[in-house]
Order: sequence, then structure tokens, then C-alpha cells
Amino acid sequence: MNNKNILITGGAGFIGSHVIRRFLIKYPEYHIYNLDALTYAGNLENLKDIESNENYTFLHGDITDEEYINSIFKKYQFKNVIHLAAESHVDRSITDPLAFAKTNILGTMILLNAFKALWDTNWEGKRFYHVSTDEVYGSLGETGLFKENTSYDPNSPYSASKASSDHFVRAYGETYGLPYVISNCSNNYGAQQFPEKLIPLFINNVLNDKALPVYGDGNYTRDWLYVMDHAIAIDLVYHKGVNAETYNIGGFNEWKNIDLVKLLCQQLDAKLGREEGTSEQLIKYVKDRPGHDLRYAIDASKINTELGWSPTVTFEQGLSETIDWYLNNEDWLNNVTSGNYQNYYKKQYQ
Ligand code: NAD
Ligand code: TYD
Repeated sequence: MNNKNILITGGAGFIGSHVIRRFLIKYPEYHIYNLDALTYAGNLENLKDIESNENYTFLHGDITDEEYINSIFKKYQFKNVIHLAAESHVDRSITDPLAFAKTNILGTMILLNAFKALWDTNWEGKRFYHVSTDEVYGSLGETGLFKENTSYDPNSPYSASKASSDHFVRAYGETYGLPYVISNCSNNYGAQQFPEKLIPLFINNVLNDKALPVYGDGNYTRDWLYVMDHAIAIDLVYHKGVNAETYNIGGFNEWKNIDLVKLLCQQLDAKLGREEGTSEQLIKYVKDRPGHDLRYAIDASKINTELGWSPTVTFEQGLSETIDWYLNNEDWLNNVTSGNYQNYYKKQYQ
């Protein structure tokens, strides 16, 4: 892929902001257009350091706004798209599933249509990269790993909407020859993640001496990947992935929630100069999430053998760097947890 204009959607969010920063630094010949609606999860503060880069343009818009999306494709003639914009939190999808269908399914289709309308069948040098999640595969039992050919079996409105968008991307490839790649990644963590997801939520709660609400018995398992390693994988899939292929991305790093929370508490106590065991006392087992998937774990051997990717950061190191970022960026945390966040928190955790 050597085309210069790249449209990245959802670039003001957690993963998108890391991807944009990586691309701007590593590929000064590219011009990155960041299209983002700036929902509660989008924050231009995440891109403060690069906002005046001459190879960067922010486009404030909604992927479900068909007229606007068609107009920017026409204006900027995007040959390449990396699509990350989405509603991304499972708990919110349980409260408001329609919002997830709208953004994740309809929004993706509107992007696909605009891309198809612009290029018709002239697909040479074009690519639509759809960034997806391992949650489309559903839940594993105690053993086994998600592979690229594992059947889709989504359980939450979030994962169902992502699964549906994956299917549409694939269908546009089969039906219209639209050149695409998809990657399905495990749980990410790192700087600038909105404090509704487990790790930043619990860091924020420890800082504020609030309870750490562990769902159910805490024995649910996730495979955690440092966000920078996901950005490296996205870079590789974008540049070297084979059309119409899917790549699973994961950390080879499974943790039961309760063990992860204990490690997080230990690191926080050490960094905050608190006596060991202090933060763990905040753990509170609460009502389980409905339809809670027991276990996710990725077999990332395809991207490893075909594209040479593997995680570069150990979990202990990544977690430590993540905590340091939140400790050093309390203003960021305070800004995003004011206003509507308080209403969300009350409703979710009562
Ligand atoms: P996020 O919620 O932090 O960011 C999403 C971004 O999309 C925000 O900036 C938001 O403003 C924007 N957005 C939302 N609706 C929009 C709309 N209608 N139009 C334009 N922009 C809109 O999400 P994230 O964690 O950075 O996830 C990014 C992508 O990666 C998502 O597609 C998600 O499904 C996928 N993913 C996330 C994880 C994870 O652990 N976070 C893991 C695997 C895959
Ligand atoms: P989350 O970060 O929401 O990611 P996902 O649901 O996409 O895996 O949750 C990670 C795990 O942590 C999941 O098993 C649910 C659990 N969890 C809690 O126990 N308490 C919480 O307050 C949250 C947000 C999540």
C-alpha cells in the first residue's frame, strides 16, 4: 500500500489514537484523515501532540451520516480506509443495543457503500481494513483457542453488531470484489483507554478509594494485549495482509479477572506508596453481567508466521506503564469522568 491519503475512522478513541500516532511518525509520506464523531469515547486530547502535524487532518463527522460520508469520499478520493469507529463497550450495548446496530452495522455499511460508489470496480491499489474483535467468536470453555476459521457465535449486542459488520465487509468482498482485510483482536489495555473498561476503571477507582466491582465470581478469563502491540499489528496487516484474509491478534496472555485485579492492586499500592493489600480491600463482588462470556483466548499463529508479528511488551511491563500514564495524567482522567460519566456510573453500578 503506497497510496498517500488514508482515512482512519475512530481516531480520537483509544486504539485509533495510537494507530494514528504510529502512522504519522513512521510514514511521513502519508496524509492521515481522522474521521470521528467525538462521542463520549472520542477525545481530541488523545492527539494533542500531533494535531498540528501537516500530514494530519481531523474530520468531525458521523459514519452513519450518509450524505457527509459520501461527500468526504468524493472530496478526498480515499483509496485506503482503516475503520475503527465503533460503539465498543459491552455493558453499554446491553443497555442500548440499537445504538450499537446503528454505528457498528449501518455505519460500516455506509462506509463500504461510499468506498464502492467512488471506485466502482477499479480496485487496483485500494484497501478497506476493518478492525474487529475476538468477541465475535463467542465464548470458549476452559480450553481451546479462537482461530481464524472458528465459527462466529456472538453473545452480546456489541459482539453481534461487530460480527454483523464483519459479515458485511466480507460480503462486499465476495459480491463486488471490494478489497478488504479484517483483524480480530483480543482485549487491549494501555494509555488513554476510557475508564469504563476493566483496567482504567479500576485504576480510577483505586485513586478515588471507590469499590472495585468484580462481576460474578471473577473467574472470567480474557487475553490481554498492550495497545501499542495492536497498533504494530494493524500497521503490518494494513501493509502486508493478503486481500480477503482475516488475522487474529492476541497477547498469548490469559488472565482470570480476579488475578488481574490483584496484580493491578499490588502494582498500584507499590506506586502509590501504600501498604501492600490496601487496594485489594476495595474489591467487591457484584451482580454478574448478563450473557457474560466465560473465556476469550486467541491463536495468533497466523499473523505470527505470515506477517512476523508477536507481542513486544510483557503484561507486567505494559500494566506498569499503563498505571504510570494514568498517574501522570490525572487531568485527563478528571476531564473524562466529569459530567455524563457520573450518570453512566450510577446507572451501571448503582
Ligand atoms: P473507543 O470506544 O475507545 O473509540 C471509538 C471511537 O469511535 C471514538 O473516538 C468515538 O468518538 C468514535 N465513534 C463512535 N461512534 C462513531 C460514529 N458513529 N461515527 C464516527 N466516529 C464514531 O474504542 P476502541 O477501544 O479504541 O476500539 C476501536 C475499534 O477496535 C473498535 O472497532 C472495536 O470494536 C475494536 N476493538 C477494540 C478492542 C478493545 O479491547 N478496546 C479489542 C478488539 C477490537
Ligand atoms: P471489559 O473491559 O468491559 O472488556 P470485555 O467485556 O470486552 O472483555 O471487561 C473485561 C472483563 O472484566 C470482563 O470479563 C468483564 C469484567 N468486568 C468486571 O468484572 N467489572 C467491571 O466493572 C467491568 C467494566 C468489567
